[in-house]
Amino acid sequence: MSLKNRNLISINDFSKEEHLHVLDIAAEFEANPRQPILTDRVVATLFFEPSTRTRLSFESAANQLGARIIGFSDASNSSVQKGETLHDTITMVSSYADLIVMRHPREGSSRYASEVAKVPVINAGDGANQHPTQCLLDLYSIRKTQGRLDNLNVAFVGDLKYGRTVHSLTHALCQFNTTFHLVSPEALKLPSAVKQDIKDHKLEYYQYTDLQEVLSKVDIVYMTRVQRERFADPMEYERVKNACILTGSMLHDCKDNMKILHPLPRVNEITTDVDKTPYAYYFQQAQNGVYVRQALIALILGAKA
Ligand code: CP
Repeated sequence: MSLKNRNLISINDFSKEEHLHVLDIAAEFEANPRQPILTDRVVATLFFEPSTRTRLSFESAANQLGARIIGFSDASNSSVQKGETLHDTITMVSSYADLIVMRHPREGSSRYASEVAKVPVINAGDGANQHPTQCLLDLYSIRKTQGRLDNLNVAFVGDLKYGRTVHSLTHALCQFNTTFHLVSPEALKLPSAVKQDIKDHKLEYYQYTDLQEVLSKVDIVYMTRVQRERFADPMEYERVKNACILTGSMLHDCKDNMKILHPLPRVNEITTDVDKTPYAYYFQQAQNGVYVRQALIALILGAKA
């Protein structure tokens, strides 16, 4: 098993053993975050779509490893604005950096970039498709809070149609005998291709529209934002945007071990009174992203094995 020079485009690009290995290395970084083992390397972060956590945690991770960072957080400041193609942008950047981290609104763009680039590419989110590094930090957060990944009841709540973090995490959790509880309005149900993966693994899933129904049954509640930017019809967004809101008063009869995750940013789907409860884990989850991204950069650039 070696992740050296590998691309990470889909969560399925790595095996279960490789996912667990990334989590183990991330735990080492959590215990000892400042390890300048990549002082001679350059990491490019190309964000064609807005981000706070993913870009900054990748850059924090690269900094703590001693690597240099180049890139852009707004493609309108790059030559994309002059009409440069993704092909040409990636060709150029892959001669300036040892690793490319890329977010792009188009599904499949990261896979395409990996076919063009001479250096490894990490997908930091491609449209509504996948967000594999978020998935790994979600797995890390689940294992850390529950002490295991196997045999858990996990609720996914909100925009299961466009939420790329849900798609990646569902695929990953299929390897751990998960029971899935899917809470969403009818218009935002999990796509059938993702549900098929659950069926192929002979696992159970249950669908709900009422969030309260699942809160006492599950170990993890994975909340998501309704992805306004993916809706073709703004009226449709208005119709569903408040369908699944978690408030503090709903958190009675929960299991003691239950934790609430959210990839963030949140809009209104978790009210702020939840933040002070022992169930809230979303800010620590985002912090875990630094350790997981340190592990990925170090493994892919060969500084860890
Ligand atoms: N979780 C996540 O992808 O957040 P950002 O959009 O802020 O990167």
